[in-house]
Amino acid sequence: MSAAAFGTANEDNANLSRSDSKAVRRRSLALLGSLIRPVRLRFWLTIATVVLSQAARAAGPALIAFGIDHALPSLRAGNNIPLVLTGVAYLATALAAAGLTALYVTSTARLSQAMLLDLRLWVFRHTQRLSLEFHERYTSGRIIARQTSDLESLRELLDSGVSSLASGALFMVFTAVTVFALDWPSGLVVLAAAVPMFLLARWYQKHSQIAFRQSRVVSARLIVHFIETMTGIRAVKAFRKERENAARYGELAEDYRQATVRSINLNGVFQPGLVLIGNVCVAAVLLFGGFRVLTGDLAVGVLLALMLSTKRFFQPVDQMAMFYNSFQSAQAALEKVSGLLEEVPTVRPPRNAVELRNARGAVEFRDVEFRYRNGPLIIPKLNVSIPAGQTVALVGQTGAGKSTLAKLIARFYDVSAGSVMLDGVDVRQLATAELRRNIVMVTQEAFLFQRLCGGQHRPGQAGGTARGDRGGGEGRGRTRVHHGTP
Ligand SMILES: Nc1ncnc2c1ncn2[C@@H]1O[C@H](COP(=O)(O)OP(=O)(O)O)[C@@H](O)[C@H]1O
Ligand SMILES: [Mg+2]
Repeated sequence: MSAAAFGTANEDNANLSRSDSKAVRRRSLALLGSLIRPVRLRFWLTIATVVLSQAARAAGPALIAFGIDHALPSLRAGNNIPLVLTGVAYLATALAAAGLTALYVTSTARLSQAMLLDLRLWVFRHTQRLSLEFHERYTSGRIIARQTSDLESLRELLDSGVSSLASGALFMVFTAVTVFALDWPSGLVVLAAAVPMFLLARWYQKHSQIAFRQSRVVSARLIVHFIETMTGIRAVKAFRKERENAARYGELAEDYRQATVRSINLNGVFQPGLVLIGNVCVAAVLLFGGFRVLTGDLAVGVLLALMLSTKRFFQPVDQMAMFYNSFQSAQAALEKVSGLLEEVPTVRPPRNAVELRNARGAVEFRDVEFRYRNGPLIIPKLNVSIPAGQTVALVGQTGAGKSTLAKLIARFYDVSAGSVMLDGVDVRQLATAELRRNIVMVTQEAFLFQRLCGGQHRPGQAGGTARGDRGGGEGRGRTRVHHGTP
């Protein structure tokens, strides 16, 4: 994979190069695989239930045939046992089919919910772990898009997909065996239909992959715009941006509509195309068989049975096409989600953390240079030493870099060059918990955690406490980074 396709870097591009596209698909399939792994037992049990329920359903007509051919003649001969047995067997398979169907419906739902729960928590934890730098670039709107509409399309696949694929495939295999058993040359004709079907599926895959990628991209844009407007509603109202924002939203919504229509149109060719191939194949079997009936090589009854079976063979194709459609859609979504999961925090905890037993609070900037990502140099070579116990005020005009210095001490970002030291230890060598315990940053923006309302958040500790934050930052030896109005 080229660096461009790694993580979320190339997320907005729907027309990936061949190798990138492959790499991204592989990544999303791997994600699907790792979601299935913890529930693989249930996954295979669900498939087994589908297989059994299909078998039970298929057994019904076979039992009726047996009844007519064997049990009825026995009855006429005065023996009613075969008929009773057939009747009981028929009742049993009908009950089994109903029970198994109910089982696989609930089992699929449980399976899909377990996988979604897993992924949802995983995405949340992972995103929370990523560094500020990532969040500034990626924005919360996109994360919401990943967490909502992308996961939703995976849910659609899981809810309908697994069982419809398994039952459809199984039905086709059963019917194909019947066709071969009746007349193997006709079986070959049916198999030959697989070639154009494969080509059509390839065509659909190629185009729908791009269409679904586009639809993920524009759907994320739509959500981002919505979130940004609503979270920045004060600024929107203050600068009277309502009309402009509404117009932009209109454009994005139109883009989304068009992207959706494009993928629907592709499906509109794919699905009827498959049905057409199926019908042509039925005609071919009829033609081929018809000639052989004329020459006396094939019985009319066999031809009739062949026609019925061939028609039945293509019945689940519709359902399979629908599955493939939601599979493609879910894969485009998983490409994005797996990209997000591939991101790693840029501010990493140290491998071998140094302990800071009794923090005294000496802060030193040693040859520090800093820029945000690839931006301009905000802090050119800075050397400052603040002895422990001193209270220092940093004065400067807006944008001078005061807040940035505070953030560097708290290690919200890593310096571009040089080092920030706390009591002579590079902050990059301190474990995150240790750092947060010793350095408390009071940020400018007021933020209340919904669950913590009433009690305040205690810095550096997980969860809130009703005792308030007064004890939190003022212990002796703690460095307080107070960071008031700019
Ligand atoms: N997250 C960020 N990404 C990119 N640039 C930023 C970011 N935060 C601040 N800056 C830029 O860094 C410079 C210093 O900002 P800041 O430290 O907030 O200044 P001060 O607190 O002194 O007003 C400004 O030019 C600002 O635009
Ligand atoms: Mg500031």
